[in-house]
Amino acid sequence: MKLSNATTIIDTFTASASMSTTILSLVVTILLILGVLKLYRRVTNRKTNKNLGALPPGPASWPLIGNLPEVLLCKLSFRWVHQFMAEMETDIACIRVRNTHIIPVLCPEIASEIYKKKDAIFSARPLTLGTQETSGGYLTPIFSPCNDQWKKMRKMLISEVVSPARVKWLHDKRAKEGDNLVLYVQNQYKANKSVNLRLVTRHYSANLVRHANSVIRKYHDPVIHERMRQWRSGQRKDMDDILDVFITLKNPSGHPFLTDDEIRYQLAELMIGSVDNPSNSVEWAIGEMINQPKLMKKAQEKIDRVVGKERLVQESDIGELNYIKACAREAYRLHPFSAFNIPHTSTEDTTVAGYYIPEGSHALVSRYGLGRNPKLWVNPLKFDPERHMNDGDVSLLENDLRFISFSTGRRGCIAGVLGTYMTIMLLARMVQCFDWTPPPNGIDLSEAVDELSPAMPVTAFARPRLPPHLYPTDQN
Ligand code: HEM
Repeated sequence: MKLSNATTIIDTFTASASMSTTILSLVVTILLILGVLKLYRRVTNRKTNKNLGALPPGPASWPLIGNLPEVLLCKLSFRWVHQFMAEMETDIACIRVRNTHIIPVLCPEIASEIYKKKDAIFSARPLTLGTQETSGGYLTPIFSPCNDQWKKMRKMLISEVVSPARVKWLHDKRAKEGDNLVLYVQNQYKANKSVNLRLVTRHYSANLVRHANSVIRKYHDPVIHERMRQWRSGQRKDMDDILDVFITLKNPSGHPFLTDDEIRYQLAELMIGSVDNPSNSVEWAIGEMINQPKLMKKAQEKIDRVVGKERLVQESDIGELNYIKACAREAYRLHPFSAFNIPHTSTEDTTVAGYYIPEGSHALVSRYGLGRNPKLWVNPLKFDPERHMNDGDVSLLENDLRFISFSTGRRGCIAGVLGTYMTIMLLARMVQCFDWTPPPNGIDLSEAVDELSPAMPVTAFARPRLPPHLYPTDQN
């Protein structure tokens, strides 16, 4: 019994000893693996090219997968990127995700090296399943590689959609939408209801494009096909919108210039390109100006001085509306719609800011980081339009890349003029036509956690401030 007890104890001891040994060796193995991985992380992070030097600094990365875990786990990845770059005190970094090097950039000098000096090397786009899908297999320009299809569509948009003649041709449709905007806000006032500025600004921007197109691919394919049929059967003869323009374009041999798919995907891409930027910046601008009533008052006085109080502000006034343009510029600086500009991909090994950038890297110029860079902007988190005022003309374009509005270079936005009209008319009408009062609990302008819009839609009460006969009515 004793023996068996002893045996049991010894067995138990042996068993538990061997279990401890197993656990110990497991722990030692794990520690060893972690140690090797950590060493490897350090080593891989110091990867260099013998001619072109070292990669930009960045967080240590895991073998094979690189920083994939951090990118996946940090749901707020843009905040994570800006945080570690601030901690490392660097304006350029390298994050490796599997075999791809992602290069975030926070200062105008490095952004200019990429978008201007080395524009030819950085003018490709990353190819992903998502961009392939939205562009119908890269039929449209925004996400396409720098190929003949990109050239064809970009050139076509420049001459047929955003050329001065075409912008003029579509003026009346934009003017009508500006009137609808005022009418809607006034109706909210009459109904004693507050105005949800997110809803209003998005609706206005989307309607501008919708009026230009009349249709949107996803919901209106049958309408597009019907319109094509009308043109082909000779039933339709008058050009009314961009869809008519697209359908009737001919190549030199007299055949349709655009295929049916190119038309469908291009119409959808126009929506992507033009809705979010103006609506987001005007929602922010109005929220900031309601919270700083002095700014709103000054903006109203400036418009009154240019336009008077006997007519509504028009596109033809924009040249003189420098203070309104400064307010919109400030919104683009401080509150860009997206944290990063659309990625530009390098087509060969190169260097930027003296660091090695391997072919296929994705340069991510940070709209958020440039606009809030304390080396460029005094008190960067303050909404202060005055910082853009100068003796000359104020413009929404920013070719020095101190923030990103329309970007620059061969992948820069083609619609600086049209985008300016859309943004400034939206803001100017809201400022000229109404006095604004915040709701009783004020306007909370904190940012959403994982994006850059206000966490809650900006909502306020509007009261007409011009003579009643100037306001559009339902009958107009
Ligand atoms: C206020 C309005 C707008 C803003 C702020 C804006 C801004 C931008 C930005 C930042 C880019 C990326 C540039 C880069 O990758 O470096 C871009 C690209 C582009 N935008 Fe706009 N955009 C606006 C309106 C429009 C409109 C109305 C159109 C079309 C009519 C348009 C057409 C395009 C196209 C085609 C590209 C891609 C250019 C390329 O990759 O070759 N945008 N835009």
